[in-house]
Amino acid sequence: MLINIAKPSDLTEADVTPESIYLSRRRFMGGVVGLGAGLTLSNPTHANADYSDVPQGDSPAWLKEKISGTEWRAITPDDPDKDKIAPYDDASNYNNFYEFGTGKTDPARRAGSLRTEPWSVVIDGEVNNGGRFALEDIAKPSQFEERIYRLRCVEAWSMVIPWLGIPLADIIQRAEPTSKAKYVRFETLVDPEQMPGQRSSFSLIDWPYVEGLRLDEAMHPLTLLAMGMYGRELPNQNGAPLRLVVPWKYGFKSIKSIVRITLVEEQPVNSWQLIAPNEYGFYANVNPEVDHPRWSQATERRLPNSLFSPNTIDTLMFNGYADEVAELYAGLDLKANY
Ligand code: MTE
Repeated sequence: MLINIAKPSDLTEADVTPESIYLSRRRFMGGVVGLGAGLTLSNPTHANADYSDVPQGDSPAWLKEKISGTEWRAITPDDPDKDKIAPYDDASNYNNFYEFGTGKTDPARRAGSLRTEPWSVVIDGEVNNGGRFALEDIAKPSQFEERIYRLRCVEAWSMVIPWLGIPLADIIQRAEPTSKAKYVRFETLVDPEQMPGQRSSFSLIDWPYVEGLRLDEAMHPLTLLAMGMYGRELPNQNGAPLRLVVPWKYGFKSIKSIVRITLVEEQPVNSWQLIAPNEYGFYANVNPEVDHPRWSQATERRLPNSLFSPNTIDTLMFNGYADEVAELYAGLDLKANY
C-alpha cells in the first residue's frame, strides 16, 4: 500500500477516486474538495462504491453540514478483487455491540432504543483543556474525512468499510495533554434503560465497555473518530454517534458510542483483557503469526461471503497497514504483547 504526504495543490478528489464514485459523491457533496496535506493514497480501487442506495438517516443539521463538507481523503486498501467495500446492508446488519446483545443481528434489531442526540463527551485526566463537550463542538473545528479501511475482527471475519470522521489526534491536541499523559482510555455509555444487553444478568462485560491506546497510537494519522459511514451518519448499531476506528488493530479496539476520553499515565485495562487476559491483550495488533489460543489468525473470512463462496483470504500483518504503523512497535515483542 502506498501512502503519500501530499501538498494541498498536488491532488484533486478525482485523482484518488474512480469516476463512478466521484460522480455519485458529487451528487450529495455539491462541490469538489481538493485534498489537504496529510495521508493520501494514489491507488484508487473502489469502482464498486456507490452510496446512492444507502438509506439516509435522521442526523442533526450540524452533522449533515459536516458530512457535506467531507474531504474525500480515502486511505484505500489496495487489492481491487479482495478489498471491495462491503454492501451497507452487511456492514449495518452483522455487528458486534454487546450492549445490545451478543448475536450478530441483535444490534441492528435493538439499537434503535439508543438516543444519540444530544450527546456529549467528557475529556479529562492528564489534560490542561478538559471538560464536557457537546459532540457538535468536538466535530466543528475539524475537517471531516472519508477513510476506506479494512476492519478485521479478532473472530477472523473482516469487511472493508468507508468511514467518515475526524483524526483522533485533533481532539487530543486540543485537549493539551500534560507531560504525564502516556495512554488514552475510552468508555462507552452505560445506560441499561437504552442498552438492553447491559440489563442481562448473563453479561460477561463489567460495564462500561473500556478500550485504550498508547498516546502515539492515538495520535497516529490513521486513527479516526468516526461519526459516519457510507456518506451518512453512523447507524446506532455501528456505534453512533461517535466511535473509534483503529484499522491495524482487531475490531474490539474500535470502541463504540464513546462518552469519555481520558488521558492517563498508566496502561488502561480494556474490557476483553479483563475477561480473558490470556486471549485478548492491550495491543491487539492484527498479526497472522500470533494465533488466538482457540483459533488461527492466519486467514480471515472477507464479508460478504456464503457457504459456497467462503471468501477466505490471508490476513496481513497490521491488517495491511504495516508501512504506516510498524515503526510504532520497533523492538516490541509482538508475541508477548498480543
Ligand atoms: N464497542 C462496544 N461498546 N461494545 C462492543 O461490544 N464490539 C467490538 C467493537 N466495538 C464492541 C465495541 C468488536 S468485537 C468489533 S469486531 C467491532 O466493534 C465491530 O464493529 P461493527 O459492528 O461496526 O462491525
